[in-house]
Amino acid sequence: MTFDRSIKIAPSILSADFANFGAEIEAIEAQGADWVHIDVMDGHFVPNLTFGPPAVAAFRKHVKTVMDVHLMIAPVDPYIDAFAKAGADIITAHVEAGPHIHRTLQAIRGAGCKAGVALNPGTPAEAIYPLMDLIDMVCVMTVNPGFGGQKFIHSCVEKVADIRNKIGDRPIHIEIDGGVDPTTAPLVAAAGADVLVAGSAVFKGGTVNTPDVYGANIQAIRDSIK
Ligand code: DX5
Ligand code: ZN
Repeated sequence: MTFDRSIKIAPSILSADFANFGAEIEAIEAQGADWVHIDVMDGHFVPNLTFGPPAVAAFRKHVKTVMDVHLMIAPVDPYIDAFAKAGADIITAHVEAGPHIHRTLQAIRGAGCKAGVALNPGTPAEAIYPLMDLIDMVCVMTVNPGFGGQKFIHSCVEKVADIRNKIGDRPIHIEIDGGVDPTTAPLVAAAGADVLVAGSAVFKGGTVNTPDVYGANIQAIRDSIK
């Protein structure tokens, strides 16, 4: 992975057909997805359950771009090696998920992955300032994690600008996760985000048999930013 600040669209397969992940991943990549975002939930840190390492390893066989694994789990540390072995390019852990985020981020890089740190809407930007030398990405949650299709929380946009300012010239991505669509994407892009996760806004109205709908949805997000 080379670093650049151009806008990248990362569809979340949380909104895909759960009986057809391989074809869904191939469809979104063929239709212009830059990264593939995988939402791992444990029913404890967040009130929903999704995928473990074997499922993520199965997804890897279909991902040709970047596999971006968002861990909404606590504890995190016992599972880092398993998600790295499953083929994650980036592993993101939540700053709220445990008392030792510094150690967690070191372990992610130690496992050979890029390290991301995510902040819930209720967590201030400053929570990640001591971690700047340990991270390759900040994921600013613009919904409370756990479910796709929630309403974008506008008060998080100011936090994106603060983090962008703090990052300066460091090669750290800012990812936005939750409620991204053509009405909200321009707000976060203007504030300095470069990776836009979108679940419902990419998959809505389409199937693997009508993949051009995914392409149009991705393009609509890109066009909203120009
Ligand atoms: C929420 C997840 C998101 C979610 C985004 O907990 O981390 O990645 O799938 O879905 P939309 O784009 O529908 O808000
Ligand atoms: Zn996510």
